Amino acid sequence: MKQAYQKYIPFEPIALPDRTWPEKRLTAAPIWCSVDLRDGNQALIDPMNVEEKLKLFHTLVDIGVKEIEVGFPSASETEYEFIRTLIDGGHIPDDVTIQVLVQAREHLIKKTFEAIQGAKHVIFHFYNSTSTLQRKVVFHTDVAGVKQIAVDAAKLIRELSEPVVASGVDLRYQYSPESFMGTEMDAAVEICQAVIETLGATPEHKIILNLPTTVENCMPNYFADEIEYFIRKLPSRACAIISLHPHNDRGEGVATAELGQLAGAERVEATLFGNGERTGNVDMVTLALNLYTQGVDPRLDFSDINRIRDVYEQVTKMKIGERQPYVGELVFTAFSGSHQDAINKGTHYMQESGTEYWEVPYLPIDPADVGRQYEPIIRINSQSGKGGAAFVMQHHFGFDLPKVMHPEFGHIVQVETDRVGKELKPERVFELFKAEYMDVTVPYELVRHSFAEFTDESGHSHVTFAGTLRHQDTVFQVQGSGNGPIDAFFNAIHGQKMDRFTFVDYKEHAVSDGSDSMAVAYIQLRDKAGKDVFGVGVSHNINLAPLKGILSAINRAVTGRV
Ligand code: KIV
Ligand code: ZN
Repeated sequence: MKQAYQKYIPFEPIALPDRTWPEKRLTAAPIWCSVDLRDGNQALIDPMNVEEKLKLFHTLVDIGVKEIEVGFPSASETEYEFIRTLIDGGHIPDDVTIQVLVQAREHLIKKTFEAIQGAKHVIFHFYNSTSTLQRKVVFHTDVAGVKQIAVDAAKLIRELSEPVVASGVDLRYQYSPESFMGTEMDAAVEICQAVIETLGATPEHKIILNLPTTVENCMPNYFADEIEYFIRKLPSRACAIISLHPHNDRGEGVATAELGQLAGAERVEATLFGNGERTGNVDMVTLALNLYTQGVDPRLDFSDINRIRDVYEQVTKMKIGERQPYVGELVFTAFSGSHQDAINKGTHYMQESGTEYWEVPYLPIDPADVGRQYEPIIRINSQSGKGGAAFVMQHHFGFDLPKVMHPEFGHIVQVETDRVGKELKPERVFELFKAEYMDVTVPYELVRHSFAEFTDESGHSHVTFAGTLRHQDTVFQVQGSGNGPIDAFFNAIHGQKMDRFTFVDYKEHAVSDGSDSMAVAYIQLRDKAGKDVFGVGVSHNINLAPLKGILSAINRAVTGRV
């Protein structure tokens, strides 16, 4: 490739030193138009059949898209049939406008008018190519030539629309100077102004001027300059809604749409997940959720993004990449230990502070807002830090381990990831926890027990514990009193061989197991050498859980687990 780059002609930016768009902010959603059923569909290896198109159409309606380009009815029978099915089958809600595309050619325009009969709200979208390159290599004409094509089509459309409008159809016009991004801006203005005048657009009945990046050919800031320039120069700006139609050849479609809006565009044509010709059209989901995460209402509903993904994958037979923004399988997953710790801290901060904002590092959006679960946020691999395993225990299973236990359990999980050489699923993390802390019932086992409790005249509570313990084959009785069940039990076992431990701390909370609620107790004991030993007890009985926890700690210590 050493020399080949020299054959490419660099984009020539226009001069706009007094540009204003860099100081602007996006504070409202654009008018959205979906082109999934047209631009998206035409780029599929297997275009959608009528049933699939209907499914996608209804999904777009559910999302809240109000303008939907439904096809190119003059291009094929399937396209025509689909539009008839939509209209005749009563599939189009009253607040949704269908858009039909047609080339600026007489017989195709006529056929398109036939296709829309009976629809309530229609955008009649016509286009012809205007760029320098297309004029030179495809059409062999000049600016006047392409302008004439557009004006002739506009005349015909105005004429044919008269009876349609008279019959009560809410008909609007849209014109696209196709390959706008490669058109001289003054020529684009001249052509679009001629179309506005021919169609008789007014501020009350605006035309949509759709300015496509048919092939993305420059950096988004240069494109924004073009849009600002175009808008400033257009004499009848008040009679037009400026629309963008970015493709994604340089991978900058989203930025192009965002900067184009800063430059004054009010409408965006896009597709779900960026399906479309070549590298695709701009992705509506990313654009909308980018607004959302800046505190702007996108006026589209992606609260069940997995369902939308499933419909998309089913009807397009395309696959969404694992790292696709907001939806990919891995986008809510943190592999690095430091990221996991920070997410953990962010979640705690949010719970403790009661903040009304989303303040979790490494997660630009709350996964729950798009219907995603916390489950896949953290996957445990050998890079996960000590907080990662604790996070999984809390978010997947509701076990809120005391901080002092995190390093020990983190190490246990890390040893296992090193052993198996791959990441662990949350269920495996739980199995490790259970085996290490909850299932250690030997050598000491509580066979049966009872508590007696009374409160004296000064309000102090006194608890007596009496129980039967088993140590291997030996069964023995213990009894003790204290100011609570833990104290009583600990005093009861004190004279036994278990008395080399002192009680340091405990924490207990409820976990719900389906409809059931269980108590889980984390116990911290210390042996004579000053070493801390942890145990965990789980029971339906809140008095029993800590006793099981104490025995778990002792059993772990005496069997050499710690
Ligand atoms: O990309 C494009 O220019 C188009 C037009 C037909 C709007 O799809
Ligand atoms: Zn396109």
